[in-house]
Amino acid sequence: MNDSNSSNALYQEAIATFAALLDEARASGDTEPTAMTLATADANGRVSARIVLLKGVDADGFRFFTNYESQKAVQLAAHPQAALCFHWKLLREQIQVRVEGAVSRVSAAESDAYFATRARGSQIGAWASLQSQALPDRDTFERRVADFEKRFEGGDVPRPPHWGGYLVTPDRIEFWYGAKYRLHERVTYAREGGAWNKGMLYP
Ligand SMILES: Cc1cc2nc3c(=O)[nH]c(=O)nc-3n(C[C@H](O)[C@H](O)[C@H](O)COP(=O)(O)O)c2cc1C
Repeated sequence: MNDSNSSNALYQEAIATFAALLDEARASGDTEPTAMTLATADANGRVSARIVLLKGVDADGFRFFTNYESQKAVQLAAHPQAALCFHWKLLREQIQVRVEGAVSRVSAAESDAYFATRARGSQIGAWASLQSQALPDRDTFERRVADFEKRFEGGDVPRPPHWGGYLVTPDRIEFWYGAKYRLHERVTYAREGGAWNKGMLYP
């Protein structure tokens, strides 16, 4: 729990706003409302971005799960900061939410608990995929899948040690509300020092 965030009324307001919009996005017919662009940078400042799924949001921040040896994980080890970007196309006049903050790993217990809820095929996939490494051909991957299916046949699939969650602890959250004639509304929440401020930006 990040006390400096979770006890702050403006931060709580931002998280509650996000949660309400996510519920609205789910109801809007969006097929992937939890999909978010995750941008990370390496130690030299080279940036890369990809989509991951949000698997939890609360007073602590935003959680996603991945391979701890992937390109994103290598970048996060070198530079533990990230930006997230949601785009809900079907919601109102479109809504974008941008989140920035420090990144840390969630506990092993939390990763275990989430891993246990995944479909067995996804659990096997987490063992079989050497995410972000060069794959010589598709057969090699399919053989690895078959090998791990055999290895775990008849029992539960444990979480691979190289797979787990990350928590983004926000220091900035922006809600972008689309409006006609590009008169969009941008509402920002930002932590400066120990305090959170709320403001607006020109679109
Ligand atoms: C809709 C969608 C959801 C995805 N969700 C995840 C996810 O939750 N975790 C993950 O590791 N990769 C997810 N991916 C795959 C990533 O975009 C990416 O290809 C992968 O994580 C490797 O990225 P990296 O090489 O930069 O580490 C998703 C892709 C899409 C299109």
